[in-house]
Amino acid sequence: MKEHLTVVTHPLVQHKLTLMRDKHTPTAVFRQLLREISQLLAYEVTHELKMTTQTIETPLQEMDAPVLAGRKLALISILRAGNGLLDGMLELIPSARVGFVGLYRDEETLKPVKYYFKVPEQLDKRLTIVVDPMLATGNSSAAAVDMVKEAGATDIRFLCLLAAPEGVARMKAAHPDVPIVTAALDERLNDIGYILPGLGDAGDRMFGTK
Ligand code: URA
Repeated sequence: MKEHLTVVTHPLVQHKLTLMRDKHTPTAVFRQLLREISQLLAYEVTHELKMTTQTIETPLQEMDAPVLAGRKLALISILRAGNGLLDGMLELIPSARVGFVGLYRDEETLKPVKYYFKVPEQLDKRLTIVVDPMLATGNSSAAAVDMVKEAGATDIRFLCLLAAPEGVARMKAAHPDVPIVTAALDERLNDIGYILPGLGDAGDRMFGTK
C-alpha cells in the first residue's frame, strides 16, 4: 500500500458505520455490524496480496487459476475491542494465524503496559495486520506495533474502524512504514481521549458493559 492512511469510503461501509455510531443501536446489532464492516475493511486491507497461479481442472478443462502466493497472514488483535474486528476477518480468511496483545494504561505514567502477548511464529514471513477498532491517542497502537516488530514482523498494516487525527499523527511518527486502513477519520479527541464524534467506548458497545 502506498498511502499511509486509507479511508474506505464505500457506501456499505459508511452506512453501517452510521448505524454503529448511533447511541440507540443495541449491543447485538452493533456486534453484527462490526462483523460485517470488518469483512469490508478486510477486503481493502488485503487487496494487494500477492497472487500466483495453480493448475486445476474445471469440469471442462485444465486451467492455470489464481491463488494467494506464499506470504500468509497474521491477524493481531489488541485486546479487548480488537476481537470484534478479528471475528469477521477470520470468517473471510480462515487460514490466518492469530495473535493477541493485551495492554493497560499505567495511571501514573499514562503509558501502555503489556499484560499479555502471544503471536504466531515466523511473523517475518507473513503479512501482519494489527486490528483495533479505535485509533485514538495512538499510544497503545504504536506500542502494539513496536511489539510485533520486536517479534519479527516486517510487513505490517493497521486496521481500525475510526481514527482520530492525533492517533494517525502518532502512528505516522512512530511507524511511517505501517499503512493505516480505516472507515473514517473523525474530528478530534476530547479531553479524556475519546474520539469525536466517534461511537463511544467500542468495547462497551460491543460487549454491553459500562
Ligand atoms: N477507545 C474507544 O473505545 N473509544 C474512543 O472513542 C477512544 C478510545
